[in-house]
This record gives sequence, C-alpha cells and structure tokens, in this order.
Amino acid sequence: MIMSMFKFGFSKDDSAEEKEDDSNNTSLEWFPSCKIEISSEQLQAEYEPEDIMENNFFNNIPLKLVHTDKVMIDLKNERCENIIEAESQHSDLVPAKYEGGLKIWECSYDLGEFLLKEKIRLKDKTVLDLGCGAGIIGLIALHEGSTVHFQDYNTEVLKAVTIPNVILNLTDRNSIRNRCEFYCGDWKSFAELSSNKYDSEDKKYDFIFTSETIYNPDNQKKLYEVFKKQLKKDGVGYVAAKMYYFGVGGSIGQFENIVKNDGIFNSIIVWKSKEGVQRAILKLTRKDTT
Ligand SMILES: C[S@@+](CC[C@H](N)C(=O)[O-])C[C@H]1O[C@@H](n2cnc3c(N)ncnc32)[C@H](O)[C@@H]1O
Repeated sequence: MIMSMFKFGFSKDDSAEEKEDDSNNTSLEWFPSCKIEISSEQLQAEYEPEDIMENNFFNNIPLKLVHTDKVMIDLKNERCENIIEAESQHSDLVPAKYEGGLKIWECSYDLGEFLLKEKIRLKDKTVLDLGCGAGIIGLIALHEGSTVHFQDYNTEVLKAVTIPNVILNLTDRNSIRNRCEFYCGDWKSFAELSSNKYDSEDKKYDFIFTSETIYNPDNQKKLYEVFKKQLKKDGVGYVAAKMYYFGVGGSIGQFENIVKNDGIFNSIIVWKSKEGVQRAILKLTRKDTT
C-alpha cells in the first residue's frame, strides 16, 4: 500500500512555515526511547501466506511484508490504545501517541529507488533507518549487506510490523540479533540515548536514512539532532520528504533552514519528483570531516 496523502486528524496554521521551535510540543508527553529486544516467540513465529504480501516495487529486491491492515485489526483486538485512538479519529497521526508507522509512505519508495539507482554502496556499512515504520529502507540496506538499526516512535509498530518484516526477509532469521537493533520512542531521547556510545566514532552510523518524518515542524530539530549526534564524520544522511505537508505545515525548506542555521552540515537536494505530489531527497554531509 502506498499512502500519498496524510489524513490528519488535527489542524494547524499552514502559515507556520518558518516555525522552528518546539513550543507546541510542550503540552505533549513523548515516550522515551529504549531498545526493543527480540523475543524467542518472534524469532520462531510462523506466518500464514494470507498474512504476507509480496512487494515487487524494487525490481531486484522482492520484499515480503506483513499486511498492515491485518496488523491494525490485531492491534485493535489487543486493545492497543494508541491505535484505537488513531482509528477513532480517522487519522494516520495522533501526535506523541501514534506517528503513522503502520503504513508505507511514498517517499520511502523514492528513497529506496534512489539508493539502488545511484548504486550507493551499502555493503558492511552501519545504517540507521530513522522513523522506519515498515522498514523498507532498512530492508534494502540489509539486503545490500549492511548492519541496520531500526527506529520507530511506536513499540507496537516495531513489534508487529518492522521486526516481522525483517525476519521475513532474512535467509537466516537467527542472524537478526547480530545484524539488527530496534529502538522505540521519541527522537529527543533517542539522540541522547547512551550518549557515551555515540561519543565513539566507530559506534556512529555510516548512513542515516529517513523518509516522511519532517511533517511536524515541532519535531524537526529533534530529528536533526539525531543526524548531528549519530552520523559519522564522513557519514551521509538522506531525508526523503514531500516538499510541503499541507495540514501540519512541515516542509523541506524548514528542515533545510535548521541544517543551514546550525552550520555543521552541507545540504543539497539530490532528487526531485517529476510528477504527482512534489517530493524531494535531501543529502546531508558534515562540513568538517577532520
Ligand atoms: C509517516 S511515518 C513514515 C514511516 C516510514 N519512514 C515510511 O516512509 O513509510 C513517520 C515515522 O516517523 C516516526 N516519528 C515521527 N515522529 C517521531 C518522533 N517525535 N520521535 C520518533 N519517531 C518519530 C514514526 O515512528 C513514524 O514511523
């Protein structure tokens, strides 16, 4: 399923394009970040054919993905409050409760296609799929030989979608514990999580990929901090997004401004859509690599 538009259950002033602080976030309580361990049940889980869909969007990398519609029903039956609230509001997003990870958003296909077309070398790299949802980008990186850390706001998404998707696409599912890590919670605390760990250059990421994560202007600085704290000196970040998110006000221009004002990274648009909703991919590299 490709979602082309957000169905927001809340409204915002679209003129807030230049807003960069997180003042609107103060009343919201964001879940702290933590590492999610993979249970033995998850490792041994059997999947019924009807629970899985084949995704052939990327020619050479056929992906097996769990049906998120079914996951949604299961989570509702398990009385998962965040999902029930999103459903009752007919919304793909409930700020600080459910951030849209159950669906696959179109910019993740843009970014996946871009990485493959540009032949970005992912063998033996460490990759962060930031705001991963179903984890399409991380799955491509895994396929190409990277070690991948998957981060999503919602624990439910990681447990019910991301981890099963990784398991379904690994030839040796036991290798998941060596090749993957999973983190839930808010970017602010994720950026600071075991900050000592990230003081060491070799624990940082070669690549940070993120798709459809800048829609909320109040969260853009937190997202940016992850790049700043966790990308290696010679690492590369890619941000795939719509040029403008109607209804919530986030835009690529705003995110670029945050990057430029901080002065640490070069940023350049490396891809733009030619049709449909205007979308782009922004590339970030550190100015000082010494
Ligand atoms: C619209 S979904 C995009 C999912 C996926 N990258 C894709 O393109 O299909 C936005 C993702 O960003 C993550 N996210 C949004 N706000 C976040 C926050 N404040 N902290 C951590 N993760 C957040 C959510 O977990 C969610 O998966």
